[in-house]
Amino acid sequence: LAAGITVDKSKAAIKKMDMQATQEFLAELKVLTHVHHLNLVRLIGYCTESSLFLVYEFVENGNLSQHLRGTDYEPLSWAERVRIALDSARGLEYIHEHTVPVYIHRDIKSANILIDKNTRAKVADFGLTKLTEVGGASLQTRVVGTFGYMPPEYVRYGDISRKVDVYAFGVVLYELISGKDAIVRPTDGSASGSRGLVYLFEEALTALDPKEGLQKLIDPKLGDDYPVDAILMMTHLANACTEEDPKLRPTMRSVVVALMTLSSMSEFWDMKNPGLVNLMSGR
Ligand SMILES: Nc1ncnc2c1ncn2[C@@H]1O[C@H](COP(=O)(O)OP(=O)(O)OP(=O)(O)O)[C@@H](O)[C@H]1O
Ligand SMILES: [Mg+2]
Repeated sequence: LAAGITVDKSKAAIKKMDMQATQEFLAELKVLTHVHHLNLVRLIGYCTESSLFLVYEFVENGNLSQHLRGTDYEPLSWAERVRIALDSARGLEYIHEHTVPVYIHRDIKSANILIDKNTRAKVADFGLTKLTEVGGASLQTRVVGTFGYMPPEYVRYGDISRKVDVYAFGVVLYELISGKDAIVRPTDGSASGSRGLVYLFEEALTALDPKEGLQKLIDPKLGDDYPVDAILMMTHLANACTEEDPKLRPTMRSVVVALMTLSSMSEFWDMKNPGLVNLMSGR
């Protein structure tokens, strides 16, 4: 990915694809350039000089994975985490419910959630997985996605539905709560003993004292600066999104509604936050 190239006076991100574009492929791409939403990274256009290049709107502030685990950014506050969750849920809801054709992202993960200068989030790379499949191996033999984010029915049988994205989104919610990677490697560097975040949270939630188990999973970068009720609510939402049975997972529409409630709880928390209160009273 070549970032920050200027096209028509605005910055663009160029992604080089390791493939040749067929007519069918270009037709699909054209449809994608017409999908516009505030919470989706816009595909401005493409170019087929020798190789295939995709031109995207440039989102200047890195991806969510870098914000949670990198050293280049200030730690995200609780209110910012909730807003990022709501923004990306809205982007995903849009491609699930309101575009023609409907898209299933299939590679939702924190590295594909980009952050702009106002710390608002945009979903990147939607529509791509379907495209890379055209001309590739059949649906049954190729599983495209990222470890730690793929639901059981997809890994086992290649079953694809919108609930594949809902599951991956649940994992992103767990990342926002814990700051951890989707797959947690053993700290002693041994080859075995990796655990998925979904597993770690399930273990905590089914323990004798769920609150205590959960406490250990909350991102230390949050300090004491979070509303416990809201964290619990987000944990339960993530748990529902990552249900083993896809039918039991909520739709992205319901996820958006739940996050809106959470967001109003979390804004209230910001008001109670002494830092902000001092600011408002002019101290
Ligand atoms: N439109 C964009 N504006 C700014 N940075 C971007 C943009 N698109 C991608 N990036 C950055 O480049 C990184 C690499 O992007 P790329 O999509 O090639 O790989 P990825 O997201 O890590 O994996 P995947 O191919 O599974 O999506 C992203 O994680 C992101 O940090
Ligand atoms: Mg990407």
